[in-house]
This record gives sequence, C-alpha cells and structure tokens, in this order.
Amino acid sequence: MADINFNQSRHLFERATKVIPGGVNSPVRYFQPYPFFVESANGSKLFTNDGNVLIDYCLGYGSVFLGHGNQEVGTEVKYQMDKGNLFCTPTEKEVQLAETCTKIIPCAEMVRIMNTGAEATMHSIRLARSFTNKTKLIKFEGGYHGAFDYVLNKAGSAAAAKDYTDGILTESASKTITIPFNDIEVVQDIISKRENHNDIACIIVEPVLANTGLVLPEKEYLNSLRNITKENGIVLIFDEVVTGFRLALGGASEFFGIKPDIATFAKTLGNGYPISLVAGNREIMSGLAPCGSVYQASTFAGNPVSVTAALKTLEILTKEKNTIYPKVAISCDKLVDAIRDIVSDKQLDVMLNSIGSMFQLFFTNKLIRDYDSVKSTDTESFNKLFRILLKKNIFIPPSPYETCFISTMHNEEDIEKTIDAYESALSTVRDF
Ligand SMILES: Cc1ncc(COP(=O)(O)O)c(C=O)c1O
Repeated sequence: MADINFNQSRHLFERATKVIPGGVNSPVRYFQPYPFFVESANGSKLFTNDGNVLIDYCLGYGSVFLGHGNQEVGTEVKYQMDKGNLFCTPTEKEVQLAETCTKIIPCAEMVRIMNTGAEATMHSIRLARSFTNKTKLIKFEGGYHGAFDYVLNKAGSAAAAKDYTDGILTESASKTITIPFNDIEVVQDIISKRENHNDIACIIVEPVLANTGLVLPEKEYLNSLRNITKENGIVLIFDEVVTGFRLALGGASEFFGIKPDIATFAKTLGNGYPISLVAGNREIMSGLAPCGSVYQASTFAGNPVSVTAALKTLEILTKEKNTIYPKVAISCDKLVDAIRDIVSDKQLDVMLNSIGSMFQLFFTNKLIRDYDSVKSTDTESFNKLFRILLKKNIFIPPSPYETCFISTMHNEEDIEKTIDAYESALSTVRDF
C-alpha cells in the first residue's frame, strides 16, 4: 500500500494558523505536527482532503453513534430545513422530544433542551445550588464537564495534557472541591469536614470517566455515591454527555441501575447535531426560568433542526435497541480481546479498559482506576501508537486522555483491519 500522505492537510493547516488560534476551533483537535482535514464522512469512515479514507474511532468524540451521515436522520433533517430552521417559538417537536426523553431517561420527569454539553452541566450545577441553597460542588480529577470556570480544575480531555486555567478567577473556582475518582472514603471525608458542613450543593460525575482515557467505576462506587448524596441532602448529577444513549438507551443510569437527581445529555442525543439537555425530577427542574428563578436561556435551544435529528436518533435507538447495543458491544469486545491477545503475545506493559462500545489502551502495567493512574502512563508511546495507526488509516482520538468509540456502522471488515493495524503498530511502537 502506498504510504499515506497528508500534504493537502498540511497546506490547509498553514492557512488555518494564520486566522484561527492554533489552527483549530477546539484544542482537542490539534495534534503534532498538524491535524488532518476532513472533507466528508460516511458510516464508519472519514474522507480527508488528501484523499485518505480513515476508519473513525473518534466519531465526533463519541457523538456519532449511528455512524456518519445516517440517512434516516439526514432525510428528516433536510425535510425540516425546507420548513425553516429557527423560529424561537415553541414547536410541537420539542414537546415530542421532551415526552420521549421522560420515557427513556430514568431520572427524567422533565427536561430542558439546550445546545452543548457545557451548557447542560453548567445549568445543572446552578439548579443544584438553587435547589439546595448551598454553594460548593464536588467534581472528580480527570472528569470533564465543559470549558467553563468552575469545572476546569484537574479536568480531563485536552485540559488534562496542559494547565489551561489562565483567566479563571480563583474566587470562581473556590467553591469547587476536586477529588480522586473511585475512592468513596475521600468523598465521606470531604462531606464530614467542618468547613464543608452542610454546604455541598452537588456532586457532578461522569459515571464512566471518558475524558481521562476510559476509567470504569469500581463495584458499588456509584451506588455508594448515590447513598451518601441522599443521606446528606446533596444533589447527585450524572454527566451523561458521553454515556447517555450510548451505554444503553437509558444511559449509564439504566446500565448501572442508579438514578441520579439530575442527568445531562448531548453527543449521541443528536447523532452529531448540536443539542443537549438537562433532565431531572419535576421539583428540581421547576427551578428553571420562567417558572423558577434559575436563569437559563439560549437563542438556539430547541431549534427544530437539532430537535428533529434527536427525535429521529432516539426513534431508531428505541426501535432497534435489542440489536444495536449488543452489536456494538460485541464489536468492541472482539477488538479489545484481540488487542489483549496481541499485547500478551508480545509481553507488553499495556492495559485496556472497555465498556459497551467504548475502549482505551494505556501503556502501563498498573490498573487504571483514576486520574493519577492515567497520568502515570507512558504517553509518549501512546502518541507513537496514534501516529502509526493513522498511517495505517485508523483514526483514534489523538490523546491518551480520550476514549475510542465504536458506531453501529463499524463492520467486521473494519474491526479486522483495525486488529491488523494494532498488531503491527504494537510491534513497532517501542522503537518507532
Ligand atoms: C462528559 C462531558 N461533559 C461535558 C462535555 C462538554 O460538552 P460540549 O463540548 O458539547 O460543551 C463533554 C465534552 O466532551 C463531555 O465529554
């Protein structure tokens, strides 16, 4: 096979850096020496401006669960676009989407539709503060909830690779307590401290950490979080921006059988269209303006195009849930088991974490159970692995602090090609 080249992307990146800071519109998209540019995408594939076809395990950082350019979603969206794309008045489809979500999401008696994951988490924290009349929040090291002031301390995703906290007032982050994941004693200690006594409004947690590689909750951990928060009048927020509708139709909440007080969703909800939502019980959700006094507003919230995409996505997922979720899990297991065999044959110090349609590989011989264990892995080898895989037409997210995703469109041939690519990449990664 001819060596893959990204010459056109290099030219485009040179142009981009002159007019866009760092050449990208989200820091996670940058990698050395320059990112590739994409012209189109279909199913499990990305088509770059250089003419390369890549099997995509990034999938819009987990958004495109049904694969790129899903035709059923696309057809509905085009139909809606002909009827208008922004009214800023209520529409019947918003009601339909909210009704659908209350049937699917375990904690949802009401939902408020927004645009991005960050909006949803930011407003859920504000809601929790108002509901409890308390000020502090607990988040976890390596947990990523969006690019806003009070959740960026020891955050995951691109923020894990570098300290990106410039411009944030100490005061605005001073009510955030950041603690290690998977250690329930630390949660207990923090709650019982005199200075926090009766002032913790909420705990916000990704039920599966998906922005610091992939870190799974240990047995009973989420359950214990649920019990502790209930006992102490603390609102438990599941940030399901990644796990929602992906781990199961009802997200991590359904998967683990735990009902938080509030849950936030985005990504898979619109299969790539910008839409998010906050879900919770009637009492908490009624705190939102105009019925309550927690202000949340947005020009584009509930726009008919994104709502249409979400309605169709949820319709497909609901109709086909008995085939879709087992299928993606089988593909993921097959890939991960094969990589585990390769690693064991080659006696490499490599760990793999996986759940449902998500997986990640770490260069370490230690168990990956929190932010510190991910931070201590050999990231240089990971970066080499990334580059070698890319040369073999496999695109995984360009950082060990991200997660790889499988869509319903990844077929057996994709998985076999990917296994072959990992096999040869893992043979050369140490001396690349
Ligand atoms: C778990 C989680 N929460 C929140 C966000 C923020 O979402 P957005 O980038 O749409 O603002 C992300 C983004 O990756 C995420 O993974």
